[in-house]
Amino acid sequence: MDGNGRWARHRGLPRLKGHEQGAANVRPITEECVAQGVEFLTLYAFSTENWKRPGEEVSGLWILLGNFLELELPTMMKNGIRLRTIGHTHELPEEARQKLSATIAATAENKALTLILALNYSSRTELADAARSIAEDARSGALDPATITPDAIQSRLYTSEYPDPDLLIRTSGEMRLSNFMLWQLSYAEFYITPKFWPDFGKQDLRAAIAEFHKRERRFGGI
Ligand code: FPP
Repeated sequence: MDGNGRWARHRGLPRLKGHEQGAANVRPITEECVAQGVEFLTLYAFSTENWKRPGEEVSGLWILLGNFLELELPTMMKNGIRLRTIGHTHELPEEARQKLSATIAATAENKALTLILALNYSSRTELADAARSIAEDARSGALDPATITPDAIQSRLYTSEYPDPDLLIRTSGEMRLSNFMLWQLSYAEFYITPKFWPDFGKQDLRAAIAEFHKRERRFGGI
């Protein structure tokens, strides 16, 4: 959801106003995902590196997240949205953690779209966590190091129960992955748009999906 800060700066507003607008943009985008038959949407909301931002911005983001969860629960129920998270959410402030758990529980049986919020997420930390889990299983004798395959890693990622993303959309024109799903994006199609996240609307999502359908995916074949 990149570009919230610049969206606000271009309007002479404080950065948190951009995040507020960014949070408000989640509803139309999830609605369009449901309309298009997208089954999984992951939003990169907070990276492990985002703690470096000023304390006021960080605490403002957790308040925004809590407000978002409370405000959006009825819409999530109406639209069949199941909420999940990836990342070290146990390090989030207590209130945000409680609201996340409550929303995850309330939406657990919804079927149309799984909305995964990446919160305090870093792909390198995820891979290190998987490596640690493999090492522990090897030490206990549960796993023979000779049998370690990509599946052994895949099954220990935070995303083990979800399919790999088909399409990565990066808003605000940045051409980098920023520590996001390094493993899972191996064969994803990339779509980079100069629009800031708060300006990325339903029509833009439809354009990204249309572009995706034009791509020829070979997965290493010919
Ligand atoms: C990236 O824009 C955005 C973030 C780091 C925060 C996104 C989080 C929220 C909108 C909080 C609410 C959470 C949800 C899931 C609704 P940026 O600040 O890096 O923008 P910039 O690069 O233009 O400064």
